[in-house]
Amino acid sequence: MLLLWAVLGYLLGSIPFGLLVTRVFGFGNLREIGSGNIGTTNVLRTGSKAAAATTLFLDGGKGAAAVLLARFLAGEDAAQVAGLLAFIGHCFPVWLRFKGGKGVATFLGLMLALAWPVGIACCLTWLAAAYVSRVSSMGALVAALSSTLWALVLGHGPVAGLTLALTLVILWRHKDNIARLRAGTEPKIGKS
Ligand code: G3P
Repeated sequence: MLLLWAVLGYLLGSIPFGLLVTRVFGFGNLREIGSGNIGTTNVLRTGSKAAAATTLFLDGGKGAAAVLLARFLAGEDAAQVAGLLAFIGHCFPVWLRFKGGKGVATFLGLMLALAWPVGIACCLTWLAAAYVSRVSSMGALVAALSSTLWALVLGHGPVAGLTLALTLVILWRHKDNIARLRAGTEPKIGKS
């Protein structure tokens, strides 16, 4: 039964909302804009805060929806599996030849649904680090790196293994951003 939730979670997570929203808003192919990534940060480079907010909501929402649906119908193990696979689906969608996004919004959404205190702590950490640095990837990396600590400190040890696994994938997906951060060439939020 867990396999079913893995497949459903993956399919839900693999919907590339950034690409779809950008097209619907009339900005063309997101792959040809900014970093070419399919996430909220890159949608913001279209200049449309509404398109970026819509993408954030939908990419986060699909992670939360996978967890909540699986929990409601099949329990906590299924919720973790569905959340993990929704995240994997976002990062490696079959529809885009496995070249998807960096997973941050989906990570935040699934964490809010799985263990809301941890999710809120990660969201606030993301906001604070992005606000101070003015760099989206810095916010994402600090939020991911702190997530396992938040899980342990806030009494949600059972999700710590998941946060650790997701953090490793987020680090891997941000390897180009990390290189640019080290070189001092990573763009500020809203810049190309
Ligand atoms: O979550 C993605 C963000 O951290 C970086 O996006 O488009 O600047 O590579 P981008």
